[in-house]
Amino acid sequence: MDRQEAMLRELNLYPQWTLRAPVAQAAAAEPSVVVAPVEKPAATVQPQELTLKDTALPIAADVPFIAANTWPELKQQVRDCERCGLRAGCTQTVFGVGDEKADWLFVGEGPGADEDALGEPFVGQAGKLLDNMLAAIKLARGKQVYIANIVKCRPPNNRNPTAGEIAQCLPYLARQIELIQPKLIVALGKVAATSLLGEDVPLASLRGTLHDYRGIPLVVTYHPAYLLRSPSEKAKAWQDLCFALNVMGEA
Ligand code: URA
Repeated sequence: MDRQEAMLRELNLYPQWTLRAPVAQAAAAEPSVVVAPVEKPAATVQPQELTLKDTALPIAADVPFIAANTWPELKQQVRDCERCGLRAGCTQTVFGVGDEKADWLFVGEGPGADEDALGEPFVGQAGKLLDNMLAAIKLARGKQVYIANIVKCRPPNNRNPTAGEIAQCLPYLARQIELIQPKLIVALGKVAATSLLGEDVPLASLRGTLHDYRGIPLVVTYHPAYLLRSPSEKAKAWQDLCFALNVMGEA
């Protein structure tokens, strides 16, 4: 079994899935797929053919407490942050990792125990699956990819961050996004998607649509931790990754 096949098996995607409809059609409805033994996902439609759904809200990037202009300043400000109660209960802040000029930005929810211990996002089991998802679309952590979270500190017992904690922390991510200027944001799971889009709606209603975060295309998929609990949903995550590839015009 070669590496590509191993990755696809990991994602429950072997033989490989491919988009049946061009993205312009797929964007209008749930992307549909057929199983086909092809080498790589077919993607023929360029991003400019897609219609952006403008859902971006004026979020906290504008709030004055983000004084940081540069990466070092921003990292220091996050390290020093005590704006919510999460910092008191975590080991360290988890800023984000990767190419600071990446085309792809993947956004999760918040650090878990492994991330809290190591100071890097997605380094536990969910992170391994995320790495495999990246590899399946020929990406790798740190190479044109940046990975960050909605909140920088681990919520106790891995609970979801509260709206207040998100509101306090989101300006840091907003500033990271301004500095990175990615070509695409992939929101991993409901907390990431709803926090960035400012819409509290079910994840399913956000998938398969090209959203807009302050002029940057954004697509939504399942959180890898959810996929570990519900492996039968991995095929849908693959649809979302194919959709993302189409948006980037890279497939
Ligand atoms: N889950 C997340 O949302 N982020 C991480 O960094 C790890 C697990």
